[in-house]
Amino acid sequence: METGLHYIFAYLSYLLIFIVGLAIATGIFFYFVDVTQTQSTIRRNYPVIGRFRYLFEHLGEFFRQYFFAMDREEMPFNRALRSWVYRAAKGVSTNVAFGSTRLDDRVGSPHFMNSVFAVLEEEKSPSTPILFGPHCPSPYEAPSFFNISGMSYGALSRPAVTALANGAAKAGCWMNTGEGGTSQFHLQSGCDLVVQIGTAKYGVRDEHGKLSEEKLRALAARPNVKMFEIKLSQGAKPGKGGILPADKVTEEIAEIRGIKPGEASISPNRHPEIVDTASLLDMVEHIRRITGKPTGFKLVVGSPEWIAELCQTVVSRGVESAPDFITVDSADGGTGAAPQPLMDYVGLPLRESLPLVVDTLYKYSLKDRIWGNFFRQIDHPCICGAGAGNRRRCCGFRAWFYVRARLCAGLAMP
Ligand SMILES: Cc1cc2nc3c(=O)[nH]c(=O)nc-3n(C[C@H](O)[C@H](O)[C@H](O)COP(=O)(O)O)c2cc1C
Repeated sequence: METGLHYIFAYLSYLLIFIVGLAIATGIFFYFVDVTQTQSTIRRNYPVIGRFRYLFEHLGEFFRQYFFAMDREEMPFNRALRSWVYRAAKGVSTNVAFGSTRLDDRVGSPHFMNSVFAVLEEEKSPSTPILFGPHCPSPYEAPSFFNISGMSYGALSRPAVTALANGAAKAGCWMNTGEGGTSQFHLQSGCDLVVQIGTAKYGVRDEHGKLSEEKLRALAARPNVKMFEIKLSQGAKPGKGGILPADKVTEEIAEIRGIKPGEASISPNRHPEIVDTASLLDMVEHIRRITGKPTGFKLVVGSPEWIAELCQTVVSRGVESAPDFITVDSADGGTGAAPQPLMDYVGLPLRESLPLVVDTLYKYSLKDRIWGNFFRQIDHPCICGAGAGNRRRCCGFRAWFYVRARLCAGLAMP
């Protein structure tokens, strides 16, 4: 018995000596790596221990979220809102006790105005469908005010696209495909789809990267494809295209997008053929004629004067020439990955651009002709006055982990 214990202690002490020795050897190894490298000042000045800074910075995000952040502190969704959504998604009671913890003393805090005489259950009426493209051969009567905004297949993984598309079918709302093409996972759910055409024309491009009428016609022939959206810009990165790195161009992605597998693919900053307002309207008309379906465009508003110029051009050409909808993204909108200065500073936030766009459409008597789709957090007052609301964050943040950790750049959302 004693000999057995002796062997165990001897074994454990050798193990301890080995672990301590390994730790010292690793420390020495990284010491020399750090003092000889020229990439990081911190690691060069503080070899080995400087590495902990990056570790703690990384872990801090999780610690803040779980231990230190107050219920209403985080962006874009705080804990109170998140747990409300979690409970609602699980069918658990969403009631809370002891009144609101929301900070509503800031200027601009939104409030919905209640009626003195509330509506009885039996007095509720169904919402009126929104008619897009009254002049098209196949107009679209959208049943839902809230819909799912564009996120590319590839930026989103297969399960995420499938979950969103199935959810849209159940909820009776539309889903925008994003610029990454229309995958079978969008199509097989049977939900209404708005096909987005990005600057690389993924999914509807010929072998030279130009718009393929044949592919457009084939997509438009599918009954659940309801509308087409030309993407001019998005809030997270106005004026910036992107590069899809070669290692992300798998056989499947290449097939969906119409590009060569294993080769990097570039989305230009602009549609090469859309150089001004006239050519934008020409493109809208071209796509609408080929597809027979409502066609509009998405942008983040930069210059308010341009909306007036657009309206003047539409009026001079005739109201039929108008885009069937304009999707206005907020400058602070999200994306898979974008440069922070563009996210933070470029373009108008929806609180500024929505009134501008709506007022201009009214001024030119085009409000009933052009529907506005607006992106912004659902609790934001901006949504009032919008033709329809598109949400990415509220649709996504229950299904994915990334908003909680805000870690998704360069990866597909799970
Ligand atoms: C992962 C991801 C992918 C996106 N892909 C696209 C896209 O392909 N095309 C596009 O126009 N917008 C894209 N967006 C932007 C959203 O459509 C939307 O404009 C933006 O997230 C603002 O809405 P939010 O305030 O609900 O986040 C993407 C956003 C995310 C998070």
